[in-house]
Amino acid sequence: MSVKIKKIILKKNKTKIICLTSYSKNISEILDNYADIILVGDSLGSVLYSYDTTKKVKLNMMIEHSKSARQGIKKSLMVVDMPYNTYRNKSEALFNAKKIIKNTQADAVKLEGGKKIIDIIKHLKKNKISVMGHLGILPQSQKGKFRYKGKTKQERKNLLNDAILLQKSGVFSIVLECIETTLAKKITKELKIPTIGIGSSVYCDGQVLVTDDLIGLNLTSIKFIKSFYNIRKHIDLAVKKFRKEVKNKIYPSKKFSY
Ligand code: KIV
Repeated sequence: MSVKIKKIILKKNKTKIICLTSYSKNISEILDNYADIILVGDSLGSVLYSYDTTKKVKLNMMIEHSKSARQGIKKSLMVVDMPYNTYRNKSEALFNAKKIIKNTQADAVKLEGGKKIIDIIKHLKKNKISVMGHLGILPQSQKGKFRYKGKTKQERKNLLNDAILLQKSGVFSIVLECIETTLAKKITKELKIPTIGIGSSVYCDGQVLVTDDLIGLNLTSIKFIKSFYNIRKHIDLAVKKFRKEVKNKIYPSKKFSY
């Protein structure tokens, strides 16, 4: 296990873990000063490409965005999502995870799922690939309407069981997406590894948000998303100024000309 990953695990019960998404160098450079983990999430499919599902995200897209994001990361732990249909069996998962790590120098990969992918995670771990888990809402297998997880007794039992199985398989942390508060609290308490919540209450060991949502660049209205800033307002102002100066032949002045 790398020193960086050990440090993340040691934060459990001490301090909250900050995780944010980045798909590019400039954003990574900013996040690197604040985030413990920078995730190149396959949410880029909906955020950047307007796909209706992350199932449309391809491995090469993840690799190219990760290469860009990598350039801005010096301190944070870099995790890359393995996209849909790239880890259907052990050999496929290992081949693709190696490709991601080799091309992007990522510290770890993230896979969605519980019981069904335990052998795949064990295989990656055996081959020295660090893995982050992801339970609750699983966008890569989401069918139908969005609904938080942990409503029924059986669902709660399965989720807790999946979390324990994931920990046993060797993941260093688990993202809990849209899991009911008391269940997220219970899972967090049961595990030795940190949980990173998104829509799963304050009781998780850390929190993750899609940066484009946090800064108000991506317009969305999901219950758990808090927009901490309105970056659109500032982009709008800058573009308006540029337009005005060009129209009035102010820009480019001599100073900006050869
Ligand atoms: O794809 C992603 O950005 C994610 C986070 C929202 C956890 O998986």
